[in-house]
Amino acid sequence: RQARGHDMSRERIVIAHRGASGYLPEHTLPAYAMAYALGADYIEPDVVMTADAQLICLHDIHLESTTDVERGFPDRARDDGRWYAADFTLAEIRQLSATERTGADGGRVFPGRFSADARGFQVPTLAALIEMVAALNRQTGRAVGIYPETKAPVFHDDEHLPLEAALLEMLADHGYTGRDARVYIQSFGFDNLREMRSVFGSDLPMIQLIGDGAAYDAMVTPDGLDAIATYADGIGPDKTRIATTDGALVTHAHQRGLKVHPYTFRADQLPAGDTRLEDELRRYYFEYGVDGLFTDFADIAVEVLRPD
Ligand code: G3P
Ligand code: CA
Repeated sequence: RQARGHDMSRERIVIAHRGASGYLPEHTLPAYAMAYALGADYIEPDVVMTADAQLICLHDIHLESTTDVERGFPDRARDDGRWYAADFTLAEIRQLSATERTGADGGRVFPGRFSADARGFQVPTLAALIEMVAALNRQTGRAVGIYPETKAPVFHDDEHLPLEAALLEMLADHGYTGRDARVYIQSFGFDNLREMRSVFGSDLPMIQLIGDGAAYDAMVTPDGLDAIATYADGIGPDKTRIATTDGALVTHAHQRGLKVHPYTFRADQLPAGDTRLEDELRRYYFEYGVDGLFTDFADIAVEVLRPD
């Protein structure tokens, strides 16, 4: 297969989306450890703040989709019937079990994996992930990075961005400083990354996420990409934005010095026309020329990039 005008010497990375979430419950230490062992270059935690300002790894701002909070704290839902992580202390969240995800239809997303009663998993702190990766890197000599996403930034205090401030402090405390740090900070927020630069003075690598909704359309225009290039190191678009432009978005981003890390690649959710995840991954890495991608199956992406 030939790349279409793309620089084949660019570094290409595998980002373990929510850990090895194609195999184990997302955002658990076992899922992160498995992703490390499978050869991921970066491990992705989504990050949410607790009532006592602790950072935990959780995709949703609610707890009920991936924990047993309804069983442990049946009376703590808000009026909308949801259990918000921001209403719970870390000590309370430590009492919960992390579970397989419950989908919007109320069914388990991975019905063939762990039962709803499985109690072997916990919601990890971001610190626990960072410390595990550091320990593994010391032992293996690898330089696996982390790729934290500040979740639901629209819920933040616009003036103080407490989650972002806490994240930057934690990263600095663990040696993540400067342009070469093995970290990418990602956000769907429209101003959050820019403000992490301008308000907090961070020079850490940052990736602007670009959703598939109309609200993000302006970001993929020439002016939008120019604006992103003033504060971010790359874009993390929904993968359909690349496919629908037949890769042109990658070219336009690269012309501005922006890396491109699309999401999300899953063996169980292939686009029409693909029968194997490997085929979809090869198209994005080697035809569209992306610099990395988020996948639930880090092992398959590693095999595509570095076959032995
Ligand atoms: O952060 C990239 C990708 O993870 C965005 O999707 O919903 O899984 O956080 P989501
Ligand atoms: Ca994410």
